[in-house]
Amino acid sequence: MCGIVGYIGSRRVIPVLLQGLKSLEYRGYDSAGVAWPEKGELKRVRAKGKLSILEDALEEFRATATTVGIGHTRWATHGEPTRENAHPHTDCSGSIVVVHNGIIENYASLKRELEAQGHRFSSDTDTEVLAHLVEKYLDGDLPEAVRRALQDAEGSFALAVLWAREPDMLVAARKQSPLVLGVGEGEAFIASDIPALLPFTRDVIFLEDDEMAILDRSAIHLMKITDGTRVNRESERVTWDAAMAEKAGYKHFMLKEIYEQPQAILNTFRGRIEPETGEISLPEAGLTPETAKKLTRIVLLACGTSWHAGLTAKYWIESWARIPVEVELASEFRYRDLLIDDSILTIPISQSGETADTLAGLRLAKELGSRIIAICNVLGSTITREAHGTVYTHAGPEIGVASTKAFTSQLTALYILALLLSSFRETLEHETIKQKIAGLIKIPETILYHIETWHDTSKKLASRFYEATDFLYLGRHLNFPIALEGALKLKEISYIHAEGYAAGEMKHGPIALIDRTLPVVATIPRDHVYEKMISNVEEVKSRRGIIIALGEEGDENLSQLTENLIELPRLPDPDLNPFIYTIPLQLIAYEIALARGCDVDQPRNLAKSVTVE
Ligand code: M6R
Repeated sequence: MCGIVGYIGSRRVIPVLLQGLKSLEYRGYDSAGVAWPEKGELKRVRAKGKLSILEDALEEFRATATTVGIGHTRWATHGEPTRENAHPHTDCSGSIVVVHNGIIENYASLKRELEAQGHRFSSDTDTEVLAHLVEKYLDGDLPEAVRRALQDAEGSFALAVLWAREPDMLVAARKQSPLVLGVGEGEAFIASDIPALLPFTRDVIFLEDDEMAILDRSAIHLMKITDGTRVNRESERVTWDAAMAEKAGYKHFMLKEIYEQPQAILNTFRGRIEPETGEISLPEAGLTPETAKKLTRIVLLACGTSWHAGLTAKYWIESWARIPVEVELASEFRYRDLLIDDSILTIPISQSGETADTLAGLRLAKELGSRIIAICNVLGSTITREAHGTVYTHAGPEIGVASTKAFTSQLTALYILALLLSSFRETLEHETIKQKIAGLIKIPETILYHIETWHDTSKKLASRFYEATDFLYLGRHLNFPIALEGALKLKEISYIHAEGYAAGEMKHGPIALIDRTLPVVATIPRDHVYEKMISNVEEVKSRRGIIIALGEEGDENLSQLTENLIELPRLPDPDLNPFIYTIPLQLIAYEIALARGCDVDQPRNLAKSVTVE
């Protein structure tokens, strides 16, 4: 949902801004722009389309000696993705310039007032009102003018402001949109998230809601937007490094992240489970046997792929810990008449920790007295700061818009949490917990051993089916959410219409879709619903549907059903199947998108982190 960067220091500004924008491009990529001061004047270059177009337009300015500037990569909310609507936006004088991520909800009324006062607008964006508001209040003191402007603005913002007549200062502010400041030697940075800062510094300050920052070459000062009171906060050192946010020889971030799953799963369980003793250590969740026993219900709250992780975990938690679990789409949950109280544990699940709907749902549940334990990947993100506790997934930066390693590491964290609850509630034998831990520990090496084979088969299947216009994904029990996830992966990166369905529901409608052109992807491990799945797939076959089956090595029933087969190993415990069945589905989606010439890492109309409603 837009990425913003800012820099002040001693380096030439254009390469710094471009590097930052490159790592933020996954947040939005319909247009981009930068601005910097030069000899008291403001320079601004903007371009419609991907960042590479802006990069070309900036070629002649690369060597500018200026060492301060701001930049933006856009995911349009107000105003079409045109050059005129690309950020940065300026005031009437063309000397104040603003980049913004978020939505100014009262922009229409503010714009009318400002126009009546003589301000002239040149874009359709909500952001431009901020530049004119700052102009209206500017009386020599830029931070004060920004502070007053923000008091008029309703909605959400992360922003950076530069004034060409005071080029030794940047002003940043945030409310409900992410913003992080980087601290260097004689330099400071502004960015929407951590990966943009990693090539330059790992020392960061997370700006809180309703705070602003004044950055110069020697210091960063924080203050409250409401009354200007000073805020003291030390910087924190992040553990991610720059290499983690690079493609490392892979063609796409998505592919790299698919292949990183063994490591991401291992990083998520490392230090938290002990195979010898069956001990589980998650102090960050703040749970005790007493609190776990008193729970009456668990609410898992998420969007998109994270919601699918929640749907999967429901089976584990209900079966092992014997607590009812509701899995809520955050965008629906937040507008319901909620039955939540302090006997309910709410678990928001989010890779980014910034998803607006999940955050809003968290806040509602918290207000109603629920304890909140987040499952999150991004250190210091808003959801982690508002939850009572956070179980980090430690998957490392996920850059591809399609979520892959974040999903399997969320599954890992939820699996461990489910075991902890079972242990505290004494609903599983200790020996069973030990076995389930032992099973999880083997998952990374199982994936490592098989992933190349799955990939090869996925390439062959993609070459057969990449021209299909629709796909149906079927699964039962734990593989039902995995079917949903497989369908989501395919549709978001290949633009092929795909439905995920509970296989048993097929006869209630979707079976009408089946004909000789429809590929049906069925996940069929030998679990307790295996026979039922086989019957469902027979129903597809008898209607001449094309079957792509994922099942266990050596399963002759499957090889008789179809030649489009991906074989997976038999795991010691079917509860572990989601960890491996997910991966070939990611690879099939990736290879089909590639065969169709789609932009895998930056699919159209999407953004990595959805910080608006
Ligand atoms: O950062 P979050 O996990 O909260 O994001 C939730 C969804 O926006 C995200 O999973 C989305 O569905 C992905 N593009 C799916 O690949």
